Amino acid sequence: MINPKLAKIFYGGDYNPDQWPREMWDDDIRLLKLAHIDVATLPVFSWALLQPDETHYDFAWLDQILDLLAANDIYACMATSTAAHPAWMARRHPDVLRVDFHGRKRRFGIRHNSCPNSPTYRKYAQALAHALAERYQDHPALLLWHVSNEFGGACYCDNCAAAFRAWLQQRYGTLEELNDRWYTRFWSHTFYHWEEIVPPNTLSEHLSPYDETRTAFQAISLDYQRFMSDSILACYRGEYQAIKEFTPDIPVTTNFMGHYKPLDYFAWAAYLDVISWDSYPPMDVNPADVALRHDLMRGLKNGQPFMLMEQTPSQQNWQPYNSLKRPGVLRLWSYQAVAHGADAVMYFQIRQSRGACEKWHGAVISHAGHENTRVFREVAELGKELDQLGDSLLDATIEAQVAILFDWKNWWALEMSSGPSQDLKYLGQICKYYRALWKLGIPVDLVSPASDLSKYRLLIAPVAYLLQPGFAKRVESFVEAGGAFLTTFFSGMVDENDRVVLGGYPGELRDLTGIWVEEFDALPPEVTNEIVFEKPLGQLTGSYQCGLVCDLIHAEKAEALAVYAKDFYAGRPALTRNRFGSGTAWYVASDPEQPFLDALLAHICAEQSIAPLLTPPSGVEITRRAKGEHAFTFLLNHNDEPAEVQLGDISGRDLLSGKDVSGKTAIPAHGVRIIRTGSSLG
Ligand code: GLA
Ligand code: ZN
Repeated sequence: MINPKLAKIFYGGDYNPDQWPREMWDDDIRLLKLAHIDVATLPVFSWALLQPDETHYDFAWLDQILDLLAANDIYACMATSTAAHPAWMARRHPDVLRVDFHGRKRRFGIRHNSCPNSPTYRKYAQALAHALAERYQDHPALLLWHVSNEFGGACYCDNCAAAFRAWLQQRYGTLEELNDRWYTRFWSHTFYHWEEIVPPNTLSEHLSPYDETRTAFQAISLDYQRFMSDSILACYRGEYQAIKEFTPDIPVTTNFMGHYKPLDYFAWAAYLDVISWDSYPPMDVNPADVALRHDLMRGLKNGQPFMLMEQTPSQQNWQPYNSLKRPGVLRLWSYQAVAHGADAVMYFQIRQSRGACEKWHGAVISHAGHENTRVFREVAELGKELDQLGDSLLDATIEAQVAILFDWKNWWALEMSSGPSQDLKYLGQICKYYRALWKLGIPVDLVSPASDLSKYRLLIAPVAYLLQPGFAKRVESFVEAGGAFLTTFFSGMVDENDRVVLGGYPGELRDLTGIWVEEFDALPPEVTNEIVFEKPLGQLTGSYQCGLVCDLIHAEKAEALAVYAKDFYAGRPALTRNRFGSGTAWYVASDPEQPFLDALLAHICAEQSIAPLLTPPSGVEITRRAKGEHAFTFLLNHNDEPAEVQLGDISGRDLLSGKDVSGKTAIPAHGVRIIRTGSSLG
């Protein structure tokens, strides 16, 4: 349990009482209680109020609101307020200000604005976290800690440059080693002194002022990315330690952003007690893409329940078109998070701001200031349901037999690659494979290269361009023992420093896949090829479009199951399978249209005896969590129309309607069922 003090799904959100006069707080509390909200996240952006100058803190208002919350049985997700530094700090200590990608020193402004290697920022941020923890360690409202807010961004200042050099010395020891790893004989880059190394940005290695991925030296830019992720992590860890000094048993988190590229969340996860994240999909999102992000967040700590820390109750302000969540969608998307392993459902924000850029962002309490709104009613109804669920779902886990590899370093390196195609994007490729499994009703774990593979029957690693040392060997053992492995074009190409693995692609995966990729062709968007099956393979039959990149393969040990139809490489393998030990390794040589992947994954899953939870009708999502004697099957109807689901063997109580269901069940548009059964299922 995240914190047994509150043994139910946490329900709450970001609360900024400091933006409002004291007289309004009592009404806030009345409304929070009406909405069944039991957690308030605060103070998230209050550094300037909490610390008016270098030597004073002012906690009086915070004491008052925390006491008021506690008196009303509302808990605090205690934020440390360090995500936006005060103006006085920027004026007196300019080292807190970042230098941007173009080399420009920022002035005071916005938020998430502090240099992660600024000694001033680290000192004052940790001191504030320390002071808050010391003061509120025994406060009855304290439920968990929320360090800073949405860590991210990058800095290229002189402090960062010096810290980068120290980080490199630590990593490589000598300049000789660094020159070798970075391949610095290219374009006369040999370094003779550490001082010669500068941060890679548009003043140095980056080729385009508009695109942070266009670098002349991938190895340098890749290390800077690693270094920035580590530097920002060090800020988080500094506050974490300060807090733990006083409250070793209160869980600490910081809110992640799902598929946020600059931070290697797998590397961070070890230092969080519980993962939390902020989900802001656009209204027309494919629900599978949101499911993927929930699964990624669950995967960070190996399946441990996570928190949906923020979502909007209605609309956002920062999308190009900020549509309202349609009636029922707030509930549906909240349960989608729970269905994927969340034990908390929270909002940004409780009360809608009056000024600045978030005044048009949705909130539980709107500018109208009362409870008679559609949004408030939906929030309150959901709150009531979550109360009724009590602790039944807490800590329930998800069992998956399929894993998709998600590696931040590969993501960075792949998209920094100069060639073969500017359209080759990691997340897009991952989504295509994930969507196929989602439609089939097959649960998936997102795993890192360091994860234990032994519990899976299928591992999918789309565009595994950069392989971590030792990973290929671990996949070989996995396949030898009977696992199926699927990888794609442009995999196994480089080592952790983006140096090509010599001797034929896909490098360390050659033996396992049984192929040699001699060349790879990039197709512009308007050009396609076709993948043809001479003999059907499961439901795969006839031909399918493909594009983006086409590998030209020699199927040395592997079988060619389908071939290209066009161009000078017509007839060359486009899909191969290699038997390896007791398992199989699949290679998809291009980027095929979705129906190809849907059918291919159905085939491989059947071959590996991986059964869907149920066969969902289109637009209905199925997941399962289990705990002790019970399994909970979630049915989520993402359609705008009612749907009917054949339940097969599943019969039990729907926790939301309280009715027993079996045979088939009708689910209204945007409706949800959580069917509790004995755990023998699945
Ligand atoms: C983020 C932040 C919040 C708020 C919301 C608005 O998730 O953490 O402070 O700005 O976005 O959507
Ligand atoms: Zn800096």
